[in-house]
Amino acid sequence: MKGIILAGGSGTRLYPATYSVSKQLLPIYDKPMIYYPLSTLMLAGISEILIISNPEFLPFYKKLFGSGEQLGLSLKYVAQEEPKGIADAFLLGEPFIGDSPVCLILGDNLFYGSQFTPKLRRASNIDSGAIIFAYQVNDPQNYGVVEFDSSLQVVSLEEKPQKPKSKFAATGLYFYDNHVIEYAKLLCPSARGELEITDLNKEYLKRKKLEVQLLQRGFAWLDTGSHENLLESSQFVKTIEHRQGFKIACIEEIAYRNGWISNSDLRLIAAKYPNQYGKYLNDISSE
Ligand code: TTP
Repeated sequence: MKGIILAGGSGTRLYPATYSVSKQLLPIYDKPMIYYPLSTLMLAGISEILIISNPEFLPFYKKLFGSGEQLGLSLKYVAQEEPKGIADAFLLGEPFIGDSPVCLILGDNLFYGSQFTPKLRRASNIDSGAIIFAYQVNDPQNYGVVEFDSSLQVVSLEEKPQKPKSKFAATGLYFYDNHVIEYAKLLCPSARGELEITDLNKEYLKRKKLEVQLLQRGFAWLDTGSHENLLESSQFVKTIEHRQGFKIACIEEIAYRNGWISNSDLRLIAAKYPNQYGKYLNDISSE
């Protein structure tokens, strides 16, 4: 399974903060936003990852992660010239995806909660169809809305409906078989001029190949794209990290615990950060 992080977009809701800076590089408490979706892919066991962003911002991601080798990853980068929509990821990513299944995660989505890793591992074993995740929100009209029956069969999908048929939003995490490239090529831009991920999911629904999994209450799915959400997400991460002493989305820790890097690799990274973050990594390496 390969992974794609979509870290472009226009970020207009965060203007002027994102007028000259890529949204997914803004901090969520103690680390760049992109660490959170990257950690989700790593927890799923995915190590071959494509980062897509606006051409002017790609150099900053390359500076942050390079080839990914230091984390046991293989990272590739592709520019999205215009924010043509989320499903554009599969057209831009076609050469990278090859004949693999693929997981797409939005660069501004934060997932946190217990028993998430087994869910991710299961989804990453998908060999046919698509898996999306539904989460109850107070403002479903701002998302792709999923309606499903008691046996979790999807009944309908609607993008930002004025009258949502359920309170469940489709989160920004999607697992697909390799047909996703073929289906993405069938899409036409919507009224707002974007290749919609909801339309892509409808292609799977039409073929009865769309599975939805519920992320229960008690689980946190945060979309960090507005000023309020950005602040709330930082506070959320700070609260958990201070209370427990564990870091959320510490990609170096995950790489180490996955067995992708050695103890001395971890210490080398720790030495780059003369602060609490580096101390945390050092402490883990001495466990
Ligand atoms: P959105 O929240 O739909 O849009 P945005 O980030 O451009 O921000 P705004 O609404 O404030 O203008 O995007 C969700 C995620 O997907 C976000 O991380 C940006 C990314 N994205 C792309 O990389 N390319 C795209 O073409 C689109 C539409 C989004």
